[in-house]
Amino acid sequence: MSGANVISHPLVQHKLTIMRDKGTSTQGFRRLLREISTLLCYEVTRDLPLAHQTIETPLEEMQAPTLAGKKLVFASVLRAGNGLLEGMLDLVPSARVAHVGLYRDPETLMPVEYYFKAPEDLNERLVIVVDPMLATANSAIAAIQKLKERSANNIRFLCLLAAPEGVAKFNEAHPDVPIYTASIDRKLNEKGYIVPGLGDAGDRMYGTK
Ligand code: PRP
Ligand code: URA
Repeated sequence: MSGANVISHPLVQHKLTIMRDKGTSTQGFRRLLREISTLLCYEVTRDLPLAHQTIETPLEEMQAPTLAGKKLVFASVLRAGNGLLEGMLDLVPSARVAHVGLYRDPETLMPVEYYFKAPEDLNERLVIVVDPMLATANSAIAAIQKLKERSANNIRFLCLLAAPEGVAKFNEAHPDVPIYTASIDRKLNEKGYIVPGLGDAGDRMYGTK
C-alpha cells in the first residue's frame, strides 16, 4: 500500500502529545515511549494469522487459536529504535530481535552503518522494523535494504512520527513494506527535522545532546 497507516487510538495520541512537549523529562519520555510502543505493537500485529492447537482446559479438550508460523522478528534501528523495542517485547516476549546500527550524518543526512546482527532465517519470519522517527527516510530505507539482502521478504515498518516527504520516499523505495505511524507531521525543516515533531528522539530518550 502507499501512504501510511496512522494509528489514531486516543491513548496513543494522548501519550504522543506529552512526548512532544519539550518540558517532558528524559525519564518521562522514556516511560511514555515504552507505554506507547505496546499500543503500537497491538495495532501493527492486529491481522496476524492464527492457527489452532489442541489443548485441554480443566473442563475439556478444545481447538484453541495461537499465532501461526515462526516467531516474529523485531528489528531495532539503533539507537532510538530500542525505545520502541522494549515495549514491543513486553507484549511479544518470544520475538527474535535484530539490531541495525545506523546514525544519520548531520551534514549529508545520509545513514552511516556501524552494526548489523539478525537471526539467520529472516525469509521465514515477519520482520517488524522499529524506529521512532521517519524523517528523510534515508535510515529506514537503508535498514530495510540490509534486511532484504539478508533474505527478509515480509516486512512492516513501525514508527512514532513521520514526515510526508519521508513517507513518499519510503513508499517509492519499498512499495512492499507498509508503514505504521502515530502521526504524519507537517513537514521536514531545512535541517531534516520533523516539524512540529518532538526533537531528536535518541537525545530525548537518553538525555544526550
Ligand atoms: C534518528 C532516528 C532515525 C533517523 C531518522 O536517528 O532514530 O534513525 O534519525 O532520520 P532519517 O529518516 O532522516 O534518516 P539518529 O541518526 O539521530 O541516531 P540515534 O538513533 O542514534 O540517535
Ligand atoms: N531524527 C530525529 O530524532 N528527529 C527528527 O526530527 C528527525 C530525525
